[in-house]
Amino acid sequence: MNKHSVEVNAVAGTFQPDNILKAAGSDLLCDLDLTNDELGYLLDLADEVKRAPKNYANAMGGKSIGMLFEKPSLRTKLTFDLAMAQMGGSSVFLEGPIGVREPLKDVARNLDRWVNGIVARVFAQSTVEALAQWSSVPVINALSDAFHPCQALADVLTIRERFGRLSGLKLAFIGDGNNVAQSLMLTAVRLGMDFALGCPTGYLPDPDIVAQAEGLAAVSKAAITITHNAAEALDGAHAVYTDVWASMGQEQEAVERRTAFHLYQVNDALFAQARPDAIFLHCLPAKRGEEVTDSVMESERSAVFQQAENRLHAQKALLLMMLT
Ligand code: CP
Ligand code: NVA
Repeated sequence: MNKHSVEVNAVAGTFQPDNILKAAGSDLLCDLDLTNDELGYLLDLADEVKRAPKNYANAMGGKSIGMLFEKPSLRTKLTFDLAMAQMGGSSVFLEGPIGVREPLKDVARNLDRWVNGIVARVFAQSTVEALAQWSSVPVINALSDAFHPCQALADVLTIRERFGRLSGLKLAFIGDGNNVAQSLMLTAVRLGMDFALGCPTGYLPDPDIVAQAEGLAAVSKAAITITHNAAEALDGAHAVYTDVWASMGQEQEAVERRTAFHLYQVNDALFAQARPDAIFLHCLPAKRGEEVTDSVMESERSAVFQQAENRLHAQKALLLMMLT
């Protein structure tokens, strides 16, 4: 099976379990592995799967995924597991380093004899890339140090549910220019959203990814602002997003990061710099009292649990496009 020769086999806008647009290329290693058309289709399919889940109860019949996680997870692990089960498929899960007990290229060629797709949460982006290189089945990046594409899909789905559109909105990310920020920037600007990052010195996103996002923004006519002034980033924002100051694998930097980021806490005063109808987003897990206060997390404008729910629906749509 050559996973890189999958054809687009359905017309965007038609949602039948046996007539789903296939994601050409077949791996989701970073956000840009989905074309703009596939991204738009996925969001519409996710809406449909959320509206009528029973229509997809057998869509993954006989299919399975193997989940390889080098880092902990609540949402990603359980929502992939549930997505497969609710669509008639199954999943197996293994947590631990990939390529230590035996070479990664052997792990990949074992798994592809058993499962229809690999979902991997890793440290190095090169690990998901190597899994994709060595396996014949689709590989989905379930978070790496560089990207969190599955999260960004659920995030834009949530913003669209709240505002009824994406183009012309402004998303502000306050904090670390990390994996979540990088995926959001790439995904938001492609969809015509302005993206602002309020970030301390020394914690900017990868300049190559910013350059990629600027190219996409030039096409969609979106604006990208990167500033050290959190209030400036929030000006006019429809959605305010933050994430932990020390990501998984950076625990030893937690103390110095608390100092570096202390002006970037999304508290009531900072949140008030955004539009009065702005929503609050967080990928979770959150550290209340650090990047966000309890009052913002629990406020009526917090959409964090809607976001978490949408992980399930967005990933169902992704699996339908990549595995069926
Ligand atoms: N947001 C997210 O990916 O959560 P988990 O780390 O719990 O999977
Ligand atoms: N940036 C965080 C996201 C967790 C979902 C991390 O990588 O730990």
